[in-house]
Amino acid sequence: MVTILGIFTVAVYQFVAYNLYQKTDRQMLGLADAAAHSLSKLRADRTAISRQMPRSFDDDGDLDIPWQDLRENHQSVEWYDANRQLLGKAGKPLPDIPLAANSYISQQGQIRTLTIRVYEEKQRGAKQELQGYIRVLESTEELAEELDRLLLGLGVAGIIALSLTSVGSLWLTRQSIKPIQLSFQQLKQLNQQLKQFTADASHELRSPLAAIKTSTQVMMTHPERIHPADVDKLDAIASATKQMTCLVEDLLFLARTDVTETSLTQETWRAIPINELLEDLVDFLSPQAQAKEITLKLDSLEEVFVKGDAFQLGRLFSNLLENALQYTLPGGTVTISIVSQGKFVVISIEDTGIGIAPEHVPLVFHRFWRADKARTYREDGSGLGLAIAQAIAQRHGGEIVLSSQIGVGSCFGVRLPIAA
Ligand SMILES: Nc1ncnc2c1ncn2[C@@H]1O[C@H](COP(=O)(O)OP(=O)(O)OP(=O)(O)O)[C@@H](O)[C@H]1O
Ligand SMILES: [Mg+2]
Repeated sequence: MVTILGIFTVAVYQFVAYNLYQKTDRQMLGLADAAAHSLSKLRADRTAISRQMPRSFDDDGDLDIPWQDLRENHQSVEWYDANRQLLGKAGKPLPDIPLAANSYISQQGQIRTLTIRVYEEKQRGAKQELQGYIRVLESTEELAEELDRLLLGLGVAGIIALSLTSVGSLWLTRQSIKPIQLSFQQLKQLNQQLKQFTADASHELRSPLAAIKTSTQVMMTHPERIHPADVDKLDAIASATKQMTCLVEDLLFLARTDVTETSLTQETWRAIPINELLEDLVDFLSPQAQAKEITLKLDSLEEVFVKGDAFQLGRLFSNLLENALQYTLPGGTVTISIVSQGKFVVISIEDTGIGIAPEHVPLVFHRFWRADKARTYREDGSGLGLAIAQAIAQRHGGEIVLSSQIGVGSCFGVRLPIAA
């Protein structure tokens, strides 16, 4: 818009300036033509100009308007002989400018000059002889001022036009995005309602699941009462109930994390010794590691405190450690290390497991996402473990970064702020 207005202003200015100078040049030419008639008299008598009659007709067939009638008060006329010697001048006193060799029209500062040659035809058909030169000088000061005023006017008009256009486009943009803003608000509300629904639904599912679990456990404590053909079915019910309970708990956790403001939960946070928390987890998971013939070791035991929720931080690391044990083949190693980096601590859980393909790395934290390889390797699992771990890390002002190589292993680095 600014460019268009700029181009328009320059075009209008150039057009007006060109026309004004053309008009001036035409006037100067008329004046020079009229003054040319006095040249022969002036050559004979240098005082002829001052004594010149207002009208002196000759017989050359033109209008013979005397130069005095054409001259404006900001112009002057100069007569030169064929040798460029000044014969006389009349009009407004203007600075002396030497007669240029060949120029017709020239501009020097605020003085515009127009020079014509005057020829004399001695005999009809004979070669014309140069009689002298007439030069008209005009001060273009007023013209320049007029152009300055035009420029100022154009500038002011441009600024007003620009302001009006900006206000107009702002208003139009606001009007056009109103429906989008409304839809966005509705979408946000809908999303919030959906999260609340998931939280409520998961919560409501807990009680019937607990009832099924308890009933199955009671039934299994009296195997003699169960028909032998139904034992397998009861085992399947117990296993499915366990799996569903885990899923519902995970969903409930994520849904609650989504709907609860971090600031509301932070009040109950305290400084947790991360090294101790990891030691406890290693003790707890060691039997599982031994059963799979996996070496589970804590590499560095730096004492570091992180302000947060002990249960949630425990959940974060147990999810990562369980994954490391689940996706590592027997004989492999899972190493935990703690390294402080300024105001942060990085807890790395490195395994020598099946690894993750580069194209899957950005997907592992998505809810319910599981790699096909992981599905064949381990049937159960909902694909929520890493989503929960990432949500907890973010709630604690941190993040999880992953580096992995298929067939070599993975390293999950949890970066958390150290308690002040
Ligand atoms: N240490 C690891 N090595 C290789 N792949 C992994 C590792 N950790 C996670 N993954 C991949 O990321 C996917 C998502 O992990 P996530 O923990 O969220 O779900 P899951 O382990 O499949 O199920 P669950 O909800 O029971 O934890 C896994 O299915 C697996 O494909
Ligand atoms: Mg998992």
